[in-house]
Amino acid sequence: MAIEERFVAPEAQPEEKVIGSNVFRPRSLEAFVGQPELKKRLSIFLQAASQRGDPLDHVLLSGPAGLGKTTLAHIVAREMHATLHVTSGPAIQRSGDLASVLSNLQERDVLFIDEIHRISRAAEEVLYTAMEDFVLDILMGKGPSARSLRLPLPAFTLVGATTRSGLLTNPLRDRFGITANLEFYGEDDLFDIVIRAGAALEMDIDGDGAREIARRARGTPRVALRVLKNVRDVAQVQSGGLVNQELARQALELLQVDRLGLDALDRKLMEMLVHRYRNFPVGLDTLAVTLGEQPDTVAEVIEPYLIKIGFLARTPRGRVATPQAFEYFGVRPPVSSDAGQAFLFESGE
Ligand SMILES: Nc1ncnc2c1ncn2[C@@H]1O[C@H](COP(=O)(O)OP(=O)(O)O)[C@@H](O)[C@H]1O
Ligand SMILES: [Mg+2]
Repeated sequence: MAIEERFVAPEAQPEEKVIGSNVFRPRSLEAFVGQPELKKRLSIFLQAASQRGDPLDHVLLSGPAGLGKTTLAHIVAREMHATLHVTSGPAIQRSGDLASVLSNLQERDVLFIDEIHRISRAAEEVLYTAMEDFVLDILMGKGPSARSLRLPLPAFTLVGATTRSGLLTNPLRDRFGITANLEFYGEDDLFDIVIRAGAALEMDIDGDGAREIARRARGTPRVALRVLKNVRDVAQVQSGGLVNQELARQALELLQVDRLGLDALDRKLMEMLVHRYRNFPVGLDTLAVTLGEQPDTVAEVIEPYLIKIGFLARTPRGRVATPQAFEYFGVRPPVSSDAGQAFLFESGE
């Protein structure tokens, strides 16, 4: 079978297998499935930088959770044969936090800042000159006697990842030479990912079984892999290990994943919009409280896919369910002009 050949995954290396949810982290750009535009651009920039012996330009990766931002950061470092340093926005609150990270860098190292939209303003200012001129500006002392000290930094590459690119300031965004937006994956790409991961996990999974999982994975590799692992458990207990379509369906049902791939939380959110808030746009905070989730989780993890499949719209006055969503949940859409008008004002963040 052609599939067998294509999916002899280099990932199936023993050390990869033990790292929990990272059972399956592609290690090269080539093994990274899908996102063809992004891969093409990255690979050209990577080659050009390597040929010149320069560090890669700073890279900003944006897109919903679970689409491969962290994986790509690792790949970039690997392809550049560079050492990767990992930190995240919430860990960088004082400018000193950033200074200590930066002063540990060596020439051509890659610094990965996850959730970069969460770094503090003070740290962001320090980051500007570090990114642009490879210098570290430190303020010594306080008040009128404060002096500014400028230290040179090695030429490094910053890879920033964010689920909320709309929250990034323009000056920060402008300092990235390469910006790449990750999109939700199509069924075929997710199918590839499931088959490869299945091979890495030495699972006995057939094409229809893999397809069923791919179709119901919310366009998200992380979800596909999580479901795959659950399916493996169900298969082990119920079918001696074989995963076919029937078994995949059973397992997805157990996980309360519906035919569109919506999970219990997705449905809870949508049901709230179609039943409870049916006639009114509802604010993020209210929605989060009613769901018992953090607003960030709602905005970054749950909503993007619901928006992508056209079930939810963000309007300046709040979130509303779309007519398709009302139909899917078998509820008659409101006729009031109030909710109707909300659709006229689509907005991003
Ligand atoms: N394009 C891809 N091909 C194969 N596996 C992927 C791909 N994108 C993501 N994954 C896998 O999905 C999981 C989530 O990816 P991750 O990079 O952590 O996402 P993010 O940082 O965007 O939240 C990881 O196990 C990763 O290996
Ligand atoms: Mg990540």
